[in-house]
Amino acid sequence: MSEIIVLAPMEGLVDPPMRDILTRIGGIDWCVSEFIRVTTGLLNHGTLQRIVPEMDHGWKTRAGVPVRPQLLGSDAHWLGENAALLASLGAPAIDLNFGCPAKTVNRHRGGASLLREPELLQQIVASVRAATPASVPVTAKMRLGYSDTGLTLECAAALEAGGAAEITVHARTKVEGYKPPAHWEWLARIRESVSVPVIANGDVWTPEDYRQIRDISGCERVMIGRGLVRRPDLARQIRQADCADTAMAPWPSLLPWIADFFQQTRERVVDRHAPGRLKQWLSMLGLTYAEAKPLFDALRRETNAESISRCLDALAAGADQAQTLLALSEQKPIVQSCA
Ligand SMILES: Cc1cc2nc3c(=O)[nH]c(=O)nc-3n(C[C@H](O)[C@H](O)[C@H](O)COP(=O)(O)O)c2cc1C
Repeated sequence: MSEIIVLAPMEGLVDPPMRDILTRIGGIDWCVSEFIRVTTGLLNHGTLQRIVPEMDHGWKTRAGVPVRPQLLGSDAHWLGENAALLASLGAPAIDLNFGCPAKTVNRHRGGASLLREPELLQQIVASVRAATPASVPVTAKMRLGYSDTGLTLECAAALEAGGAAEITVHARTKVEGYKPPAHWEWLARIRESVSVPVIANGDVWTPEDYRQIRDISGCERVMIGRGLVRRPDLARQIRQADCADTAMAPWPSLLPWIADFFQQTRERVVDRHAPGRLKQWLSMLGLTYAEAKPLFDALRRETNAESISRCLDALAAGADQAQTLLALSEQKPIVQSCA
């Protein structure tokens, strides 16, 4: 397999329902879970099941796409113990997070703050590698650095020396946050400096971006996060881009997926919290699809999860969007008449 597309870990955004939907739409080779924070002690089963319920299904989404758990922390010993626990539960690989910019995480010497300490990076990876059976790859995800690129190559070398089988690089420093542009040319420098595969990451929104990040970085593996949330068929399109036209999936074709996502979300969280997750996705879809905006606006005022489900089910079945949203806003029965 020369071309690999990985769904990025995104805490609070790419949760199990989102992984289920995006991998069923297609084109994704594997997913990385949201980070699982390790302090001291072993993670409890409930936490793992909440974050990676796929573990009960052979660490695969319903579409059969593998999910790799990601650990975040700075305690080499306990990261190792928890990696061993995950391996004993059948995890296909263990990913380590060295890129998280969150303040609370960095205050505790976790995430991107470790990019200032390449020796510690190496120690952590080595400890996790030593604690985990050789058959389970240990991989790492980094940014270019904390505030600058002074230690970028040292960090990549430290991860490799510690035993990382693969390094994903989000091509920005921690301080740059998510500010464009991502520095794809740095990915090539890192790829040339290590002998393990480098997965290129940052700002792939279109099939054209995908071609460019591959050309500039020389990486055959690409991780995509926000691009897939905004444009759910992006990975599938990329796969088809050589032979077919690259028009985005039309809005009506997404409506059954949106209804399905909300249904799954309601099964996971209390009804009070479900609309927020849906609105978050709709606001991101709205950056790609104009049609998402009126739906977002209508649902912004609606807090009743049952009414939202009825509205989404009607839209998924082909009801006219404007009429359905009007009925929702006027609290009238929603008629499932097709447009
Ligand atoms: C809301 C959000 C949550 C994220 N959570 C994680 C995480 O849990 N672990 C991680 O390694 N990276 C995390 N990231 C970073 C992404 O995995 C990815 O590196 C970044 O979004 C750049 O890729 P993109 O431009 O394709 O989105 C997160 C990013 C966002 C926007």
